[in-house]
Amino acid sequence: MPRPKIALIGAGHIGGTLAHLAALRELGDVTLFDVTAGTPRGKALDIAEAAPPAGFDAVLTGTDSYADIEGADICIVTAGVPRKPGMTRDDLLSVNLGVMKAVGDGIRTHAPGAFVICITNPLDAMTWALQRYSGLPAERVVGMAGVLDSARMRHFLALDMGVSVKDVSAFVLGGHGDTMVPMIRHATVAGIPLPELIAAGWTTAERVDAIVERTRNGGAEIGALLGTGSAYYAPATAALEMAEAVLKDQKRVLPCSCRLSGEFGQSGLNIGVLTILGAAGVERIVELSLTEDEQREFEASAAAVRTLIGACRALDPAL
Ligand code: APR
Repeated sequence: MPRPKIALIGAGHIGGTLAHLAALRELGDVTLFDVTAGTPRGKALDIAEAAPPAGFDAVLTGTDSYADIEGADICIVTAGVPRKPGMTRDDLLSVNLGVMKAVGDGIRTHAPGAFVICITNPLDAMTWALQRYSGLPAERVVGMAGVLDSARMRHFLALDMGVSVKDVSAFVLGGHGDTMVPMIRHATVAGIPLPELIAAGWTTAERVDAIVERTRNGGAEIGALLGTGSAYYAPATAALEMAEAVLKDQKRVLPCSCRLSGEFGQSGLNIGVLTILGAAGVERIVELSLTEDEQREFEASAAAVRTLIGACRALDPAL
């Protein structure tokens, strides 16, 4: 039986990290695509040469031809321009919209059966546009943001309470950006809800507020430290968790940016919600009930995403 084929569109920081992690975890053969062939071919060869000491079996290929993604089972899209210090994700919109058009065409022509994970920012609007440009079913084109934002929140909570990240569960809804909606009352340590842990003195409401704020600014914090470019280890790891869920039909319950059709009172946009991810892609959107405050925050987040989608439509009326 052939190994699954994973196409990585964009062979920059996140793309290269994705290729390395996918190979180490033997998730499949990897095709790295970028606008010029040198970087993807160089990274593919470098990682392939790591196989003997690391002990993995995977074929790695680098290319600048969309024909080489033919038949991919998974496409993970990082093509575009990343955020520079002082830039917002929204500043990236017009450049990256053009990139999504080219990528959407390539996927539609060569990998129409793929499950597509978009990482390019501004995330929710780019995922929306990529689905429109590719023409693939909405349940097979999602954005990776919620797993990353949730991972950041889990890391900060684990640090704060002095417990293993393995025992911290937490998720974030809404758009990827300052308007994300961290679901504090559903965060747990070994199943114990955070509000109970606050009452028991494990942490305080003030410290949790600070964690929420740090989570919202998680990308900017790393960008400022790096000086150039943006985060890539955690984004790549988060996207692979989603890819693995689909490749192995794991039915993982993970937040991702999905097209809504009435859920939470919203339609016609992509935004972060909890989903069940399996072989069919997004197999279910989990419609948990929100408090009034959460619903209000979710609506504000949706309004911010709609503004960006409006900006995309203004740039390309065909969308
Ligand atoms: N087709 C394919 N690849 C492209 C295209 C295109 N039309 N335009 C640009 N690229 C490639 C660049 O050549 C570069 O190698 O996309 C790659 C992006 O890599 P980096 O600049 O290293 O960016 P990275 O840190 O990987 O982030 C990628 O993810 O988190 C988001 O905001 C981030 O939008 C950015 C994306």
